Amino acid sequence: MAEDTKIRSSEITDEATYLNRRSFIKAGALAGSAVATGALYRYLNPPPPREVSTAKIGDFSEAESPLSDELTSLQDITNYNNFYEFSTDKRGVAPLVDDFEVRPWTIAVDGLVEQPTLFGIEDLLKIDQEERIYRFRCVEGWSMVIPWVGFPLSKLIEKAKPLSKARYVAFQTYYGGANPSGAQLPPGPNGMGNIFAGIPFPYVEGLRMDEAMHPLTLLATGLYGRLMPAQNGAPIRLVVPWKYGFKSIKSVVRISFTDEEPPTTWSKQAPNEYGFYSNVNPDVPHPRWSQATERRIGEYGRRETLPFNGYGEEVAGLYKGMDLKRYY
Ligand code: MTE
Repeated sequence: MAEDTKIRSSEITDEATYLNRRSFIKAGALAGSAVATGALYRYLNPPPPREVSTAKIGDFSEAESPLSDELTSLQDITNYNNFYEFSTDKRGVAPLVDDFEVRPWTIAVDGLVEQPTLFGIEDLLKIDQEERIYRFRCVEGWSMVIPWVGFPLSKLIEKAKPLSKARYVAFQTYYGGANPSGAQLPPGPNGMGNIFAGIPFPYVEGLRMDEAMHPLTLLATGLYGRLMPAQNGAPIRLVVPWKYGFKSIKSVVRISFTDEEPPTTWSKQAPNEYGFYSNVNPDVPHPRWSQATERRIGEYGRRETLPFNGYGEEVAGLYKGMDLKRYY
């Protein structure tokens, strides 16, 4: 993952209108390849922000954040995304998701469980949905405050009845072809066919069992009181607020219980840069940039990054006795 050095959307837009076509062509020639030119073009001419049209799923406040921090706008949350299956360009995801079919959708729950089960998204939406306003910190150095809707992952784990030897939970994102429910996606970018992503698919993630059972760990089905927008990981994604955002895997189709630490996409890709735990930690720099501060989307300047993203009181006990510089 590249360090996020880009400036606010409003500033980028202003810059784009300021730069003339000629300087773009010159820069494009220097970039030297069709792909780089495409990326540069999108950078200089960001697509207009997309409105999300998902249905309301509850009578949620949408209003005051119980944190002292202001909520990030719906527009920023849904137009500045990391979803490499579609695009590595954060502003390029929202324009590509229109054909992403999320009905029907099932999640296979298997591995070390009493009875492997296929849950339909409708069944999961029947579980009591709550609004949870969480800080969200990406490893790249930007952050948001997001009013999620969803339910604790522990509720699904209790239904799944894992065996006592299950010590970890592995997650997998939908990728290509038919998902277990039979939903077909067209090939190409809208079918999550991003061959330029540079990471292996399907995207996989994992948690230790006690992390997965922690009351803060959410399976999110929406945000801002609406069904989950596709670009944010429809129809259901993980949210682990004290870990870097890449642990919060999107569009989940499989949850498996294992007795071994499962592989995770970014730690497979660059083990010296991304570990299994990836707890937000201002004292452990990424090999290529500091993690001491972050840029809150929608704000100027940078703010200090908090240990465990500010959730230390709730979660530090999970790591008692562990050297978090070693287990990063
Ligand atoms: N899940 C999948 N399947 N693919 C991805 O590329 N990106 C991760 C995470 N989950 C990613 C993913 C990263 S790096 C971040 S920061 C968050 O999703 C971004 O979530 P958002 O777009 O809803 O802000």
